[in-house]
Amino acid sequence: MSAKGHTAVPASHYDRHPRTNRQHRTITQPRVRGSPAGEGVVDCIVVAALDDLVRPGEYPRSSRYDPAWLVSLDMGPHPLWLLEDLSRDLDLRPGMRVLDLGSGMGASSVFLAREFGVEVFAADLWVSPDAAAAVFADAGVGDRVHAVRAEAHALPFPRDHFDAIISIDAYEYFGTADSYLAYITQFLKPGGQLAIATPGMTREIRDLGAIPQHIKACVGWEAIAWHTAEWWRFQWEVTELVTVAAARLQADGWHDWLLWARACLDHGSGDRDAIEKVIAMLEADNGEFLSFVLATARKNRISKSHYPSGNTR
Ligand SMILES: C[S@@+](CC[C@H](N)C(=O)[O-])C[C@H]1O[C@@H](n2cnc3c(N)ncnc32)[C@H](O)[C@@H]1O
Repeated sequence: MSAKGHTAVPASHYDRHPRTNRQHRTITQPRVRGSPAGEGVVDCIVVAALDDLVRPGEYPRSSRYDPAWLVSLDMGPHPLWLLEDLSRDLDLRPGMRVLDLGSGMGASSVFLAREFGVEVFAADLWVSPDAAAAVFADAGVGDRVHAVRAEAHALPFPRDHFDAIISIDAYEYFGTADSYLAYITQFLKPGGQLAIATPGMTREIRDLGAIPQHIKACVGWEAIAWHTAEWWRFQWEVTELVTVAAARLQADGWHDWLLWARACLDHGSGDRDAIEKVIAMLEADNGEFLSFVLATARKNRISKSHYPSGNTR
């Protein structure tokens, strides 16, 4: 069983487990139905592992959010740390229209609306729009964040619609096919920004010749969607559809993920076996292969190519 997406989402909130595509087992309701720090109703005790999630030196914006609230929305690594770091390569301005693709339970969408004043379309496959909308309403951004059920290959939006498309720990599920960049950039305005945070590698698995055992034990074949920053840069740049602004491997992304997983193990209501597998993978890796790639690009104003004929979605 694949374990990376150790979600804490109640079964009623989505239909399928993020990694296995199986019906999820019954999970209790999140313990916190609050919102960013100090504004929600917190009914659990904040202890050590949660305190590790407050790191104003490294992540000043994320540190203003209640870690218990974040853990209650867990579907993988810390979404706000990834987004805050990714946003350092982005130009987001109030009023922009942003697609949060694979938004899960929506912490990243809340962050985008609150921190940057943008209008967000939170599109996800497995999480029900009702559940996500409740998160947005509780966080006080229900008027600016719209929850949409969407499959990443059949998006219900017009062409040239978004100023930015952002995807946090989701693009690896659907975005590595050669044709996907041409598809997704249809929905960006010319000059619009595409930004992803996705599990990354220090070396290509193709070059290693096999998936390292400790990674395979956790996520199995799915790791073939994890690439180096150089892979992403070339994969996007060579199309001439976009100009890559940055493609970088986080220096300590694996350790950030470990801190988050430990907090989720201690305080979340997700799949403990899955979280323990993630922790074992990260401890064994110790930064040798694993981290997160942050890649951002702008859609070129004059593209030499367009989405392949016969598929105009
Ligand atoms: C590991 S979760 C991350 C969720 C959220 N971005 C976060 O960081 O908490 C991956 C998300 O990708 C979404 N996803 C996977 N495949 C998808 C697809 N084909 N179309 C739309 N969303 C997809 C899932 O529904 C899931 O919520």
